[in-house]
Amino acid sequence: MASATTAKLLWSLLIALLLLSVCDASSVKEPDGTSVVFSIENYGARGDGKHDDTQALAKAWTAACSSSRPAALLVPKGKSYLLKSTTLSGPCKSTVVFMVKGMLVAPSRSDWSEDNISHWIMFQGISGLTVTGGGVINGNGEVWWKNSCKTNEALPCTHAPTALTFHLCDNLKVDYLKIVNSQQIHMSVEDCTDVQLTRLSITAPGTSPNTDGIHITRSKDVQVRDCIIKTGDDCMSIEDGTHNLHVTKVVCGPGHGISIGSLGDDNSRAEVSGITIDSVQLYGTTNGARIKTWQGGSGFAKDIIFQNIIMDNVQNPIIIDQNYCDSAKPCQDQESAVEINSIIFKNIRGTTTSKDAIKLSCNKNAPCSDISLENIELKLEGGKGDTESTCQNAKWRKSGNVVPSPCKGNN
Ligand SMILES: *[C@@H]1O[C@H](CO)[C@@H](O)[C@H](O)[C@H]1NC(C)=O
Repeated sequence: MASATTAKLLWSLLIALLLLSVCDASSVKEPDGTSVVFSIENYGARGDGKHDDTQALAKAWTAACSSSRPAALLVPKGKSYLLKSTTLSGPCKSTVVFMVKGMLVAPSRSDWSEDNISHWIMFQGISGLTVTGGGVINGNGEVWWKNSCKTNEALPCTHAPTALTFHLCDNLKVDYLKIVNSQQIHMSVEDCTDVQLTRLSITAPGTSPNTDGIHITRSKDVQVRDCIIKTGDDCMSIEDGTHNLHVTKVVCGPGHGISIGSLGDDNSRAEVSGITIDSVQLYGTTNGARIKTWQGGSGFAKDIIFQNIIMDNVQNPIIIDQNYCDSAKPCQDQESAVEINSIIFKNIRGTTTSKDAIKLSCNKNAPCSDISLENIELKLEGGKGDTESTCQNAKWRKSGNVVPSPCKGNN
């Protein structure tokens, strides 16, 4: 009992420290004396939250991006700028700091059409971009969620915009921002290299559908650090083509937890490797540390470490599902699978709301191999009864104390 209380106290303390760092305005990097500042107000932005400021931003971007000296594009503090679907493209002549101090807000749902429904703000083909400033990116997603087929089954399923997309960027830093109420995914990193995502606060209600926090695909050398992510879907989803990703000091929940995959849907090939998820806390999420792949895919998910993780009230804390099937009709058994090997779950403790604390559900044609379970203690919330582990087609080993004892009566 005493140790559980201590753990909770430590946990709250860590969150408090993280919040301080995410909210510490004094640490915002100001554009230094050598950079030229391009304020969107000098390009006609009104900042009243009603007039469309898209053109003003586009003009300011063109100016900043073609500056031969390092540029800072400023979205001033204390105002709200209505921004339609926008793509800000490189290459730029010098480095650009996109400094959001005020708020960028998306138009209401009726303002979108099929042509622009997939992205709200997209940065594309830029080298050396920094997005920062401590301001707010507000997707204004409430009406989208209400009209989602996941909220109301009578409605047709439609796409919804990703609030912030980084496509084909290298040497990218996104630091100290609040991203709230996205229409769908909050932030997506696609085809990028050398990326640092730090001090981000990402928030949407736990009931908002498909509002993933951070989505990463086809990107390598990525760091995610000191982030708080509370949404209605995956805290982070790590998809095909992600290599060398380090996630540290991230707090998740509510939401669906940290997920690698889903991989291999529609018989596709997927490759994910070199992922470290370290010092993460999950609060009230449906999953904790998860890897999910469809039958019929190919490729691999390997060299993955989940370590130093605290879970509080998590439904499925440790889960590998190689027979993932998220479709209306049941999935058929197929010959191939995305291989899963060299996976470490280490120093993971906390509470679960279901008995199934550890679930390694692998495919008979491509058994999971080299799964290591080290120092795990997952107890049922409220202490009523024992937790369990279930395993199929998994080659695992354990070291240290592992509760629940892995793979009873299996393998
Ligand atoms: C989407 O495009 C249409 C024109 O095709 C335009 O009228 C509308 O304002 C755009 N919406 C957004 C949010 O950019």
